[in-house]
Amino acid sequence: MTTPPRLKHVSILWVGTDGAEELARLHARLFSPAWDMASFKLLLDHPGSIALTARTGEPPETAGFILGRLVADEAEILTLGVCESWQRRGIGRQLVEALCRAAKKAEARRLHLEVAAGNAIAIRLYKSLGFEDIGRRKGYYERPGAAPEDAINLSLAL
Ligand SMILES: CC(C)(COP(=O)(O)OP(=O)(O)OC[C@H]1O[C@@H](n2cnc3c(N)ncnc32)[C@H](O)[C@@H]1OP(=O)(O)O)[C@@H](O)C(=O)NCCC(=O)NCCS
Repeated sequence: MTTPPRLKHVSILWVGTDGAEELARLHARLFSPAWDMASFKLLLDHPGSIALTARTGEPPETAGFILGRLVADEAEILTLGVCESWQRRGIGRQLVEALCRAAKKAEARRLHLEVAAGNAIAIRLYKSLGFEDIGRRKGYYERPGAAPEDAINLSLAL
């Protein structure tokens, strides 16, 4: 299978507290269980929230999103997603890099995240950016109708 070409024009935009509806819509296309609008509103209302979307295409559309949170000098990625039709074009990497820059500018020293142990694609993306394995939480992800799945804890020095 050939890898689609990298995109030349991707705009990374900050999302404010009014972005809950769009984030919930995008999240529901990629995750089950999905987080609802009220959950996103709460997360976006957090003073340390960093939420970004990637817009591309002609006419431009929102192709991906990332939501992180800053507490003191530590930051965390809470969720990341790129719509299926835009995957493998470099957008996920750009979103994580943009969040790293924003967190570093806000004086965070480390960036953490949890990812499902079976999510090889996301793990590959994070490791290619320098994230290191720092632990595992047994049976952390519980999904209806499926066996619980471990979470891998990854961390990056900023
Ligand atoms: C994980 C995800 C965000 C990656 O977004 P993306 O825009 O497709 O990723 P990129 O094109 O920036 O790829 C970055 C790296 O990820 C890895 N990668 C991405 N897609 C891959 C695939 N289909 N197969 C293997 N590796 C892949 C590669 O290392 C790639 O680098 P390379 O292209 O230089 O080889 C996207 O697949 C997604 O939204 N998945 C569903 C939701 C999810 O799992 N989110 C992460 C939760 S922590």
